[in-house]
Amino acid sequence: MEEKLKELEAKVKIAIAAAKTLSELQEVHNLYFSRKGELAGLMNELAKLSSAERPKMGQAINSAKVALLTEFEQKQSELKRAEMESQLEEEWVDITAPGVDGHRGHIHPLSQVQQEVEEIFSSMGFEIKDGPEVESEYFNFEGLNIPASHPARDMQDTFFVDENPDKDFGRLVLRTHTSPVQVRTMQAEGAPLRIIVPGRVFRYEATDASHDSTFYQVEGLLVDEDISLAHLKGVMEEFLTRLFQKEVHVRFRPGYFPFVEPGLELDFGCLLCEQKGCKTCKFTGWIEFMGAGMVHPFVLKAGGINPEKYQGWAFGFGLTRLVMMRHRIPDIRLNFGGDVRFLNQF
Ligand code: DAH
Repeated sequence: MEEKLKELEAKVKIAIAAAKTLSELQEVHNLYFSRKGELAGLMNELAKLSSAERPKMGQAINSAKVALLTEFEQKQSELKRAEMESQLEEEWVDITAPGVDGHRGHIHPLSQVQQEVEEIFSSMGFEIKDGPEVESEYFNFEGLNIPASHPARDMQDTFFVDENPDKDFGRLVLRTHTSPVQVRTMQAEGAPLRIIVPGRVFRYEATDASHDSTFYQVEGLLVDEDISLAHLKGVMEEFLTRLFQKEVHVRFRPGYFPFVEPGLELDFGCLLCEQKGCKTCKFTGWIEFMGAGMVHPFVLKAGGINPEKYQGWAFGFGLTRLVMMRHRIPDIRLNFGGDVRFLNQF
């Protein structure tokens, strides 16, 4: 039996040494150390011995078991450490590595240009104003000296809101221009004034490459004492030069708008051909840019401002058109079509 114990000891030592993983080691445990394992089996055989031999052999088995268990436990902690290390290795993350940039959207080209316009005019002392898109007939037309008989009041041009007219302000309309904010601001703040009004406007219009029922304008209004069109020329030259980052010239042509007197059209020198004449400027060297003029005394009065003391000029240009010029966008419908292939170019 002593012999058997020696053999078993050797076998267990080899098995412990050979185990490469914790689960292999667990098998060694099951095989030799468990209640039905070989060491227990040997214990059971003690019954066969004489009562003189039994205690000695019992002790021998026990001390062998204790020694083997120590070895087992050592191996167990070795394997545990190794497995933890390899797990750490696997899960290691380089927290100093640069991250992966997720997809972030960007500002719409129209808003980009609007922000630039606002920045330039702000730096010249203009305030940014806003007004309602659903406007009264009064502010959209009447207050701007556009009488009921004017063609702009025609159903062809205007979306009317289906609601009972107000006795003073008339029907509700989707504003056809940003000009109504002129009278609103004059009424609210009086003179002197220096404002721009970027905003969305609506026309009852058949849509094609250059017309849309919704587009954006920027209104401008300056009211003060001793104001002339020379100031408008200076402000617009400065504005366009800063916007295009190239020296820009402007010229006035006579033009008619009911809310200004005199009224004019402002053109700027074509930047593509340096005013030599090209397809873009239709070989004239000039690009039509906006309507403007000295604010009509009727409009100043509607705004509660004394036209004997104050005068000023106003202008209105198409922000959508400006964006199209800047990026050479050939079709107005692309702007708000929501096609990301288009938008991602800007
Ligand atoms: N409101 C005009 C339009 O939509 C543009 C305009 C012309 C605005 C002359 C003005 C102006 O302030 O003085 O066509």
